[in-house]
Order: sequence, then C-alpha cells, then structure tokens
Amino acid sequence: MTEKILIIGAGGQIGTELTLALRDIYGDTNVVATDIRESAVLAESGPFEILDAMSADAIHRVVSKYKITQVYLLAAMLSATAEKNIELGWRLNMKSLANVLELAREKIIHKVYWPSSIAAFGPNTPKEGVDQYTIMDPNTVYGISKLSGELWCRYYHDRFGVDVRSLRYPGIISWKSQPGGGTTDYAIHIYHEALENGAYESFLDKGTRLPMMYMPDAIRATLELMEAPSDQITIRSSYNLGAISFAPEDIAASIQKFIPNFEISYNPDFRQAIADSWPSSIDDSGAREDWGWNHQFDLDDITDDMLSNIRKMKRK
Ligand code: SER
Repeated sequence: MTEKILIIGAGGQIGTELTLALRDIYGDTNVVATDIRESAVLAESGPFEILDAMSADAIHRVVSKYKITQVYLLAAMLSATAEKNIELGWRLNMKSLANVLELAREKIIHKVYWPSSIAAFGPNTPKEGVDQYTIMDPNTVYGISKLSGELWCRYYHDRFGVDVRSLRYPGIISWKSQPGGGTTDYAIHIYHEALENGAYESFLDKGTRLPMMYMPDAIRATLELMEAPSDQITIRSSYNLGAISFAPEDIAASIQKFIPNFEISYNPDFRQAIADSWPSSIDDSGAREDWGWNHQFDLDDITDDMLSNIRKMKRK
C-alpha cells in the first residue's frame, strides 16, 4: 500500500522540518501539508491546503480528497501562548486530537502520530531521571492538554485498536523555522542574538535546567517510532524521550567557545514558573529498549551547527 500522509500544523517549528523529511522518504506528492496559515516553503515542494484542525469536517474533506492513510497531528498551542489563551489553547489541543483519533477509530486512516511534551509533568514530578510512569500533575493549560491527550491516545489504542504513537518531546532547538511560543524558545533566541548582538537577556533564570534536543534528533526519533513494527510499541500513551539537559548558563558557556565575548544576563518573566514546574532530565529507557532510540547531538554539536547555519541564512 502506498502511504498517503497528512500533516496537520505543518507550518510550525517541527511540522516544517518533518514535512520535508517525510517528502524525502515517501515522495513529495504523497505528503500533504496543511496549516491554518499559508506556507510558501511547504506549498513549493508538494501539496498544501489551508486546514483548521478543530474542524472534523474540514479534516474529513482533505483525508478523502487525497486518500490519506496516516496523520501526523502537530497543530497545538504551546506552553507560554496557551497560558494567555486558556480556552482556545485547551479547545485546539483537545479537539484536534479527538478529530484525528475518531478518523482512526472509523478505520479511515490506519496510523496516527501525536506529540506530547515534558510539559505533561508537573511540580510534584521528580526533577532528575524522570521515569516513564511517575507523578504527573501538570499545572499549565498546555501540560494539562498533553497529559489528557496521552490518556486519550492510550484509550483509543486499548479500546479500539487504534495504532497511535507519541513522544514526550523535550525542548527542541532548530534554525530552519521559528519556534512557536514555548518556554524552551530561549534556547533558540540565544543563538540568533549571539550572532546579532553578542549578548542575550534570558527570560529563564540561571540554574533552570531543562531537557532539550536538536531538531535532527527529534525528526529521526519521530520517523523511527512511526516505522517501528506495531508489536514493538509497548507504550501507547507517550514515550519519554531524552537527549541532553542544560541551563541558560551552560548554553552561554557553549556559545563562548565559538564567540568568546558573548554575554548572557537574566531577566526571568512568567515563563520561569512554567519551567520550574518541569523536570530537568528524563529516563528514556523505554524508547531505547523498544525501538532503539539514541540521540546524536550534544550541546557543543548543537551550538556549532546552529551558529554556522544561522550565519549562512543571514548571508542569503
Ligand atoms: N517546547 C515546549 C514549550 O516550551 C515544550 O513542549 O512549550
């Protein structure tokens, strides 16, 4: 069977790169990118449609039009933005997932990918080496929607046999597209500001260690999870996924290896409380055992690659 893939929320930070990676594997015409906003990059390389993830009818129409077999649902309102739009954040994050899970229950599509996040943990979760099964008491709109979504994924799998797969992404660092309103976005802004101004004022305080990952690792994790045989997927809520952990002063020290005069200062805002409710490091042995997960990029590799790619982008 030729897989026909639909990506919802394809214009976002992860969606943009995932769409391009999937088009490389499955062929441009077999990967339909959709988003609430136009995206020139995605429309140039394959089919693109404007789609509201909250409309079950609209999703249905696109799925029928392209005879879609798999859906990657990436549309979401992230942690910082959702705190300012409680009702819409909750509705978007939950309704979009319900729409896609229903399509899979009706067997119109046969596989679903949906990302969860470290935001599904909360202030009473242990800070270090967090287990797959642990205390989860998220206190943000985004985190509540992610934990609820995880439970819905497992429910649809256990009750209706839906092949839904999910990862708890850490903060994701990338240069190709802009981050979308998250608490971990500082770790992207800092590279742009380092090159532009040689200095960065961090909205997270010194000592705020969070789990992080470079985009190529996140894309590979997603593709490897989706390609693994179904019987190897033992976790149907969402897999813990780890790579590295660092605080603002660690990323600053890494940048100073390449830009010795770089300076960081701290001016924490409302995002500090969000970061404080999340763990610092993750135990992802489930992903490593079930489908062979292994990260490749450490902090200095990320810094090197980020700085050289942002430099190249600026020259264009
Ligand atoms: N990067 C996300 C955020 O900060 C976490 O999933 O909201």
